[in-house]
Amino acid sequence: MKALILCAGKGTRLQPLTYSMPKHILPLANTPIVYHIIKKLVNLGITEIGLIVGYKQEQVREKVGDGSQLGAKITYIVQDTPKGLAHAVKMGQDFVGDEPFMVFLGDNIFEDDLTNLVHRYNEEKPSSIIILKEVDEPQRFGIAVLKDDTMIKVVEKPKNPPSNLAIAGVYIFDKDVFQAIDELKPSWRGEYEITDAIQGLIDKGLTIKGEILKGKWLDTGKPKDIIDANKFFCGKLNGWHISGDSDLDEDSIIDGALYIGRGSKIRKCNFQGPVVIGENCELENAILQPNTCIGSGTRIKNATLKDSIMLEDSIIQNVEGTIRDSIIGKNVEIMNITLNNKCTLLLGSDDKLIGEL
Ligand code: G1P
Repeated sequence: MKALILCAGKGTRLQPLTYSMPKHILPLANTPIVYHIIKKLVNLGITEIGLIVGYKQEQVREKVGDGSQLGAKITYIVQDTPKGLAHAVKMGQDFVGDEPFMVFLGDNIFEDDLTNLVHRYNEEKPSSIIILKEVDEPQRFGIAVLKDDTMIKVVEKPKNPPSNLAIAGVYIFDKDVFQAIDELKPSWRGEYEITDAIQGLIDKGLTIKGEILKGKWLDTGKPKDIIDANKFFCGKLNGWHISGDSDLDEDSIIDGALYIGRGSKIRKCNFQGPVVIGENCELENAILQPNTCIGSGTRIKNATLKDSIMLEDSIIQNVEGTIRDSIIGKNVEIMNITLNNKCTLLLGSDDKLIGEL
């Protein structure tokens, strides 16, 4: 089975961070979101993957390359105009050919290994099988109504949800979906909705199964979701993995899981893991509290961070108060500022916050 990962979207709910980068390569525990997805597919035995790219695609191509480092073979498929998920799937038609294929939304993270989904598809041979998860705010999602385990109705972002079972971002389709997509009209938000294509399949009398997820589902659309997903991956870390090429002094204190990459230099720091530090970072007098992940080439001096993600090549120096629940883009400078306890930062690349202490 081949798979399509949809990575073309603009990530508007993560602006200003996504003005300069696509959300699909934002790091969770210092690993880009799309890597986590590719690894999940490779674990399922799916290695031929079409990456649907569009917005800032050169950055996705640079990070993922041909996928061989993850055991995958990546083919890039361009969606020039963002006309919705169904349109993105249609772009992959030549790549998947006539065989059943999986579609994975490029910003969705799952705890389950999804083997049951593939197993059920192969056993039951429906037209499609789609994973579902009970949610508290069904108005925000595509929603399905099941009779036993078969879908009888789906609706995208309903005002009056007929159930609380959300369509959770992984689908297996057969080639019938392409005809259903060809018959679509744009929705109220001007997009060709994959949910409407699924309703089209139901209307044709085809069998669409639902597979209800047991584990966590993290849809990383908003900043808080990214922080939570980062926490989720940090929670899986254990032990100390300190590169032999790094330089950690004896005055630093370590508690909990800690990863330090090559070439990083650490002086008088206090680590309360899980904490991940990339390569060639310089840290002095920094307190890094749980779920803090620092990208390569960053420098931190006299600052405290907690539940935060810092991308590559940024500098933080002399910050009073804790940088918490924050996402800091590439090449950012934060110096000589005081933060109150409620303040969280969401900074795009090259931003500067420079005050006078
Ligand atoms: C999209 C789909 C929706 C699905 C959701 C899952 O919504 O349209 O059916 O429930 O992904 O993440 P969007 O992220 O475009 O709002």
